[in-house]
Amino acid sequence: MTSYGPEIWIAKDENELAQEATKRILEAMKKTLTKQDRFSLVLSGGKTPRLLYQMLGSHKELDWTRVDFFFGDERVVPKNSPDSNYLLAKQTLFDPLNIQSNQIYDIPTETSPTEAASQYHGKIHKFFAKNTAGFDAVLLGLGHDGHTASLFPGNQALVDPSKPTPLCIAVEAPKPPSQRVSLTPFALNQAKQAFILVSGKEKAAAVSAALESDSEPSEIPVRAIDPSGRLVWLIDRAAACALTHASG
Ligand code: 6PG
Repeated sequence: MTSYGPEIWIAKDENELAQEATKRILEAMKKTLTKQDRFSLVLSGGKTPRLLYQMLGSHKELDWTRVDFFFGDERVVPKNSPDSNYLLAKQTLFDPLNIQSNQIYDIPTETSPTEAASQYHGKIHKFFAKNTAGFDAVLLGLGHDGHTASLFPGNQALVDPSKPTPLCIAVEAPKPPSQRVSLTPFALNQAKQAFILVSGKEKAAAVSAALESDSEPSEIPVRAIDPSGRLVWLIDRAAACALTHASG
């Protein structure tokens, strides 16, 4: 069961949310790079992070050559599809910051989801040189049904989030695009810190269920996220409106 004790920070609107997320990610990056050569960042998909990525992408003054980019999940669609999480990152982050291809660990989408998951597991395994995934920071979103990455309610990987599993799995999603690949809780929870970014009133019920219910992770998948390090929820007031305890 998740021993839930995350930090919850509430923004007045989506712009302040993206500003705070930018500040925290850059702080984590700078702090990490004083202690190690590289910073590994897992990007979230969906629409919420667009503003955040645009803000990060405006920081051309920083040395991004020591940052490696991964994806928490991907839709198995062409890389130039508007549904591609890779395309969002390319347009808002990789191109503006001139990120080189050897810094980008994208999820293959030109093969079957099962083969893509296996290949991505191998990519991560090779990067960390062992069967772990100690990402320095993970960005995640939240769906209105409580899903995160492409871990939807009922996914077997959610039954026991602490159980060692492959780092990456193929997923048949209940919403299109249905063919997806996702990091598992086992992979995500080895991160040194995770930021869950949520905006909008349509997410309020999921936020409340995630933070103020005792639902099992298989019902509210984001409750499987319990990283080895810090867990921070960055929420705007609209998404936080159903919370009974948090103030902001
Ligand atoms: C994806 C995401 C997914 C997303 C949520 C929220 O590939 O769709 O990884 O987990 O974060 O569905 O999506 P929005 O930000 O579009 O609401």
